[in-house]
Amino acid sequence: MMHSRLLINQTEMPSVGFGTWRLEANSITQSIILDALKAGYRHFDTAAFYQNELSIGRAIRQSDIPRESLYLTSKVPSHIKDPQATLDIFEQTLRDLKTDYVDLYLIHGPAPKSERHESHRYNKGNVDVWQVLEKLYLEGKARAIGVSNFSLNDLDNIRQHASILPMVHQIPFYAGLDQQALCEDAHTHRMIIQAYSPLAKGELVKHPTVIQLATKYQKTPAQILLQYCLALGTVPLPKTQHQARMKENLDVFFDLAEDDLQTLKHIEP
Ligand SMILES: NC(=O)c1ccc[n+]([C@@H]2O[C@H](COP(=O)([O-])OP(=O)(O)OC[C@H]3O[C@@H](n4cnc5c(N)ncnc54)[C@H](OP(=O)(O)O)[C@@H]3O)[C@@H](O)[C@H]2O)c1
Repeated sequence: MMHSRLLINQTEMPSVGFGTWRLEANSITQSIILDALKAGYRHFDTAAFYQNELSIGRAIRQSDIPRESLYLTSKVPSHIKDPQATLDIFEQTLRDLKTDYVDLYLIHGPAPKSERHESHRYNKGNVDVWQVLEKLYLEGKARAIGVSNFSLNDLDNIRQHASILPMVHQIPFYAGLDQQALCEDAHTHRMIIQAYSPLAKGELVKHPTVIQLATKYQKTPAQILLQYCLALGTVPLPKTQHQARMKENLDVFFDLAEDDLQTLKHIEP
């Protein structure tokens, strides 16, 4: 049985998603996605920026898994801050994924990455893009909408102008990374946090404290790190191209003691 989380609009999101960043557009990615579907993943995180939506769409079609059992997230690229360009890239995503809706559509970033420190310059553009997401939501083409990599100021800007508030915030989240302010914001506004890079891009599986806890709980380091994300109320999006790790990263429903969660919260890289 797949565990799931309920969003503020009562739609359900599977509690663990499969990350697809850096999986390129090719037949290898197609077979990785097919393996992930076989391993039991139903929730996939992609983005127009990843340029792999066509391979994901092909794998889904090949799998014969009904669309309604899948949860697909995509994102409008950070550099697009224009309504028509947002609609165009969204339609391309639907064509590539071979679907007529996404389960979740996000603004990938408040500004192009190199300009994120001055994202206020994009306040108007972000509101323009958000209004397109609201329209897609009302038309049923995006079953939920949200943002990624936003600061508190970027969130305030959207909320000042929104008629539908962001339901999800996708941010980097892993043991030792303090995201308290964004987590408090999400709690206040009843947004789900999606934890990206939940293994710190693979770095934290080698951390001695994580290895010690893995021994204590008879789990793997990755399972400790993913349960940490779940215990803190987030939805982790681990990426792997290996079949054994796909299964390992889904088998993450157990309890960590409160003091071990605190240890993980404060580990240093
Ligand atoms: N919104 C955004 O701006 C944003 C930014 C970054 C990421 N994301 C999303 O979040 C997803 C995950 O983040 P990420 O790819 O940065 O990093 P991650 O999931 O934290 O780590 C991936 C790395 O960990 C390794 N790994 C996976 N499972 C493992 C296991 N059980 N044991 C040991 N090593 C393991 C993988 O290697 P192998 O593949 O070789 O197994 C890969 O090198 C992305 O794919 C993407 O969907 C979103």
